[in-house]
Amino acid sequence: MAKRPASRRAKPAAGRGRSVSKLPKVATGELLTLLDFVRYAASRFVEAKLVFAHGTTDPVAEAAFLVGEILHLHPDQFETFMTARVTAAEARQILDVIGRRITTRKPAAYLVNRIYMRGLPFYVDERTIVPRSFIGELLDSHFGGQGDQEGGALIDDPESVETVLDLCTGSGCLAVLAARAFPNAQIDAVDISKGALEVAGRNIADYGLQDRVALHRGDLFGPLGGKRYDLIISNPPYVDADGMAALPRECRAEPRLAFDGGADGIDIVVRILQEAGRHLTPQGGLLCEVGRCRPAIEAAYPRLPLLWLDTEESDGEVFWIGAADLQGSQFVGQPEARSAPKTV
Ligand SMILES: C[S@@+](CC[C@H](N)C(=O)[O-])C[C@H]1O[C@@H](n2cnc3c(N)ncnc32)[C@H](O)[C@@H]1O
Repeated sequence: MAKRPASRRAKPAAGRGRSVSKLPKVATGELLTLLDFVRYAASRFVEAKLVFAHGTTDPVAEAAFLVGEILHLHPDQFETFMTARVTAAEARQILDVIGRRITTRKPAAYLVNRIYMRGLPFYVDERTIVPRSFIGELLDSHFGGQGDQEGGALIDDPESVETVLDLCTGSGCLAVLAARAFPNAQIDAVDISKGALEVAGRNIADYGLQDRVALHRGDLFGPLGGKRYDLIISNPPYVDADGMAALPRECRAEPRLAFDGGADGIDIVVRILQEAGRHLTPQGGLLCEVGRCRPAIEAAYPRLPLLWLDTEESDGEVFWIGAADLQGSQFVGQPEARSAPKTV
């Protein structure tokens, strides 16, 4: 443990910028175990009124995530080691990252270049949004006959899925999760952002999926020609103008392009609904996350038979619609209750 206050001794971690810790002084022996550091960090995070919206939802979970990452422990291992002591060098690194979380207000995932989805680690940096899509959970819970929803799984046999499209792929996390959920599928993943695709490429390589996941840069279906898919998944930008104006500092560290869904949030979703039917096989379907835009979508398409899905932490923020309903062109034309959508 540091003899002098750790905040003075803390050195910036290599390549991570200047240490800007403004933490209260911590004397030798005051903090010993992982749990001590988590308690200390959580208290500082509450004092600093941080926002938790990137994989964790409260200060204790955020603190445990950061402490675990500095110590190279998977979140599942935290409990095993929470009463273990940290070394002086580890203590300096932990205090440094706690300080940077407070002073930069960046999402914790950017500070340690890692986030977990469904227990799997993904590389992440400021070129792409920090992944937190509910679709990851739905791929586990609603596909492959294990669905706990009324009426069974949305696709009964995951092995029968041959083609998947991940629209707006960002870090590529959903494409990777889809590759695991559908072992025989070839996956196309599209994003308009060059930086996001660079991050996606890294994650796909980390999982050795280069032969199964192809990345495409472009505007929604633009780069795909007339290709059809057994499943389309998408977590597109869907924040409305009020939401964009009120984004917390943590979210303003992320690419604006990942959030901005136009005035009522559904510019991109409307375009996906209008075009998806032409890119689905007859038995296929579209799984699309829309956040709090359900009322706007239902107002725009009152006759569209969307199935709204819940997850552990969301109610009706993702919809499913089968190809037959989308291909029935009487449903998906210009929206009924909004002006013509803007394009990106
Ligand atoms: C909410 S993020 C989702 C990223 C990722 N799928 C996830 O769940 O973490 C939306 C992504 O859509 C991309 N995007 C925005 N407009 C787009 C467009 N017109 N065509 C393709 N991608 C677009 C952004 O660059 C961003 O990566």
